[in-house]
Amino acid sequence: MENDYSDITFRLLDLSDADDFMEWYSDEKVSEFCSWNTFTSKQAAMQYVADNVIPHPWYKAICLKNKPIGSISVTPFSGYDICRAELGYVLGSKYWGKGIVTTAVKMAAASVFVEWPHLERLEAVVAVENMGSQRVLEKAGFTREGVLRKYYLLKGKPKDAVIFSLLSTDPQVNYLMYD
Ligand SMILES: CC(C)(COP(=O)(O)OP(=O)(O)OC[C@H]1O[C@@H](n2cnc3c(N)ncnc32)[C@H](O)[C@@H]1OP(=O)(O)O)[C@@H](O)C(=O)NCCC(=O)NCCS
Repeated sequence: MENDYSDITFRLLDLSDADDFMEWYSDEKVSEFCSWNTFTSKQAAMQYVADNVIPHPWYKAICLKNKPIGSISVTPFSGYDICRAELGYVLGSKYWGKGIVTTAVKMAAASVFVEWPHLERLEAVVAVENMGSQRVLEKAGFTREGVLRKYYLLKGKPKDAVIFSLLSTDPQVNYLMYD
């Protein structure tokens, strides 16, 4: 079916996917709330992927019919914070509003709680203005915990952020496993 957005799979992102990942890395609508600046050259985006994405412990391309259309990552903390990990995601703007990242977040959460049995808490920190991302987390069963004032720098400016979490013991995690 032409407009079937349910066939979402994950795989590793590779430098040979450059034409696909440039669709989101070169889009200012996508980078607005991201730590990276919009990439104007394919070479610079490939270097970023080589340095940050490929060595990352849990970073997947979100694929629609095996074509990368975005990405999702789970970054583990270490030491006393090893019980938690932070979720991040981006999607090419032409695919927004079709439920794709909500599906991807549910898939990622179900997967990491199985892959990392020590993980107690998956969290996400979202700019207060990023309503779409907050809605994704609510739909995926995360709990909104509150606002962290001037919590991080976004493009050099301090930002208020909303923090969300999903615990391995939250009952909705069981539903995610069988979604
Ligand atoms: C945020 C983002 C990941 C959402 O992905 P998506 O696949 O479009 O999300 P979904 O379709 O699963 O759900 C989006 C929800 O947000 C809602 N939404 C989107 N923009 C909104 C806005 N400005 N105000 C209120 N709700 C909004 C949609 O209506 C939808 O909710 P609904 O199903 O109840 O109608 C995507 O827009 C994106 O990649 N943005 C740029 C990168 C980014 O911000 N990443 C997150 C950093 S924390």
